[in-house]
Amino acid sequence: MARARTKHVCSECGHEALAWSGQCAGCGAWNTLLETAAESGRPRATAGGRGSGARRAARPTRLRDVEAPAERRLLTGIGEVDRVLGGGLVPGSVVLLGGAPGIGKSTITAMALGNLSGSGRRTLYVTGEESAAQVRMRAERLGEGALDVPVLAETDIGAVVATVESEAPEVCVVDSVQTMHSAELTSAPGSVAQVRQVTGALMEVGKRTGTALIIVGHVTKEGSVAGPRVLEHLVDCVLVFEGERERSYRTLRALKNRFGATSEVGVFEMRSGGLVEVEDPSARFVAEATGAPGSVVLVAMEGTRPLLVEVQALVAPTEVVPPRRVANGIDRNRLAMVIAVLSRHAGVQVGSADVFVNVAGGVRVDEPGADLAVALAIASARAGQALSDPEGRPLACFGEVGLTGELRQVGHPERRVAEARKFGLEPVIGPRTSERLGGLSAVDTLRAATRGALARGRRGGAAAEPFAEAA
Ligand SMILES: Nc1ncnc2c1ncn2[C@@H]1O[C@H](COP(=O)(O)OP(=O)(O)OP(=O)(O)O)[C@@H](O)[C@H]1O
Ligand SMILES: [Mg+2]
Repeated sequence: MARARTKHVCSECGHEALAWSGQCAGCGAWNTLLETAAESGRPRATAGGRGSGARRAARPTRLRDVEAPAERRLLTGIGEVDRVLGGGLVPGSVVLLGGAPGIGKSTITAMALGNLSGSGRRTLYVTGEESAAQVRMRAERLGEGALDVPVLAETDIGAVVATVESEAPEVCVVDSVQTMHSAELTSAPGSVAQVRQVTGALMEVGKRTGTALIIVGHVTKEGSVAGPRVLEHLVDCVLVFEGERERSYRTLRALKNRFGATSEVGVFEMRSGGLVEVEDPSARFVAEATGAPGSVVLVAMEGTRPLLVEVQALVAPTEVVPPRRVANGIDRNRLAMVIAVLSRHAGVQVGSADVFVNVAGGVRVDEPGADLAVALAIASARAGQALSDPEGRPLACFGEVGLTGELRQVGHPERRVAEARKFGLEPVIGPRTSERLGGLSAVDTLRAATRGALARGRRGGAAAEPFAEAA
């Protein structure tokens, strides 16, 4: 068969060229030509396609009359995954699972397929990265169920599509999208054009056979040009698997979900037997909290679930100009803002010191409610004063810090306070709420919060050498 012709289309102006060039001849933009498969000569079979000139008008259907089967979800049997998906996989949907190399993408998908096939579902694991033997070795580590999953080691997307069509699995994993290639394009596997073409082909066959697809994709630190970023609009659901490789905790969160909320987060731990769900992460993190100077417990909200995490700060004198501001697990810009407000409105100066802030356990917190914890951890580290009470329980807090030094309300204060109380962390320092909450020590300003926290620490917590400004 002759190789299907391809063309190069400018993503800015739509200009078409037969050969690739660095600059678009149409609009003059650089690096915008993308290889796409040229349409074959046959007119499209579907009505409304870009076929012959005279088209028949289609008849829209009232939504009430659209046939939709009662939604039935496919449970992966991994509680945290099902929760992040909004109650399991939707048949015929496409999920993109992104994550850094070695984070555990293959492990979690292999576990999910093992559970699904154990509950009588037809599954298929397509691997383009590893040989079938390597996949088997991982499955052996994961337990009996995982060994029942049919595996296909293939990188040609045409063969994969044909297999999905003939096997019609209910759930199919493609690991990874960057290794698949379409023979219709000449560009290398993993290029934007290939990744798009491959995903398009998979989505098309998935919709036809009602197969729920989980497409694995690598993400580089920058979000990667040729990576899954370009696919986010196409797929139904984008999950990201995050965590530090050296640490055992991993979090799974949804960036986009057409069938559920995007705020849910699952927490896992990597063990030799695979990924284990951490069902009560708060208990784990609180038990690990040191309560030393510079340590504070943040009552964060991860979706609908309150989560207690330890925020640690280190303030150290430095000769470096400008001093270092290092944030792990929180946004760097928010750290800079909190440091500025501390200095301007709460009298805590760290101008000539390096400041390091870390959310323990490799967890990432993306909410303004973390501001107060960051501020108190820095104030505690600078004063060399632990904030724990006489029994050694760490201080818990939450709240957004405003630019004028005020403490602002954040969502779900009652749930946060209740979670902290569950672990005996009372009172929680937080912004004033409309209703009085038992267990909440409400304050209006960052200055008052800092004073209150340090005073509590002097009554109970251990003290260390305070940070002294360099002369
Ligand atoms: N015996 C073991 N005990 C504990 N952890 C292990 C064991 N074997 C592998 N791992 C962990 O599993 C991780 C690899 O998992 P996996 O292959 O699922 O990752 P991945 O995201 O698919 O990686 P890639 O990007 O290479 O495809 C390793 O980083 C390692 O931490
Ligand atoms: Mg892998």
